Amino acid sequence: MRKVSLFIATSLDGYIARADGSVDWLFTDQDYGYQAFYNQVETLLMGRKTYDQCLSTGDYPYPGKRAYVFSSRPLSWSNDDIEAVSGDAADFIADLRSQEGGLVWLVGGGALIATCLQHRLIDEFVVSIHPIILGRGIPLFPNSDLSHRLKLESTLAFDTGLVQLRYRCN
Ligand SMILES: NC(=O)c1ccc[n+]([C@@H]2O[C@H](COP(=O)([O-])OP(=O)(O)OC[C@H]3O[C@@H](n4cnc5c(N)ncnc54)[C@H](OP(=O)(O)O)[C@@H]3O)[C@@H](O)[C@H]2O)c1
Repeated sequence: MRKVSLFIATSLDGYIARADGSVDWLFTDQDYGYQAFYNQVETLLMGRKTYDQCLSTGDYPYPGKRAYVFSSRPLSWSNDDIEAVSGDAADFIADLRSQEGGLVWLVGGGALIATCLQHRLIDEFVVSIHPIILGRGIPLFPNSDLSHRLKLESTLAFDTGLVQLRYRCN
């Protein structure tokens, strides 16, 4: 079975982007373990809005890795590594997770995370809490009727004020 990991940055008040989708508040002074994590990633999962946001910043940032983008419409751009998935996202991810293979990175955003939570498809959470309160925005964990008990595996605190929490699902 493959591991699905949510590796993501959030504000202290639990937003992954401002209300307009911007992520200008993310720290860029160092990589906070990103490259080491990314080196292990074999497959990426993205909602269409996150994908569009990636493309809007310049070159596609994940060349050479298999990526599945969930959308009911054709993608604005793609290449051989990228596959649009228009069917049931939960079924697709459950099937992918049940196969043999390497690490799956659930990139986001909030809508796709909500689906994965609803179906208990996330094995690991690596959450980088930035020392900022955005006030409003796109929530990391939208309202849900389900609760999830997690086990804390590690904490890392950086001088910049970013705190990274690593949990796995019980
Ligand atoms: N802070 C971070 O580390 C971080 C990480 C990732 C993303 N983000 C931010 O998150 C924002 C986007 O989040 P979001 O919640 O608005 O959107 P999202 O989850 O990225 O994308 C939503 C879209 O994905 C498709 N989709 C999502 N769930 C689906 C499902 N269960 N089945 C089928 N299709 C599904 C739909 O596309 P269609 O409408 O095309 O059908 C939906 O409109 C962006 O601003 C991005 O920058 C931040």
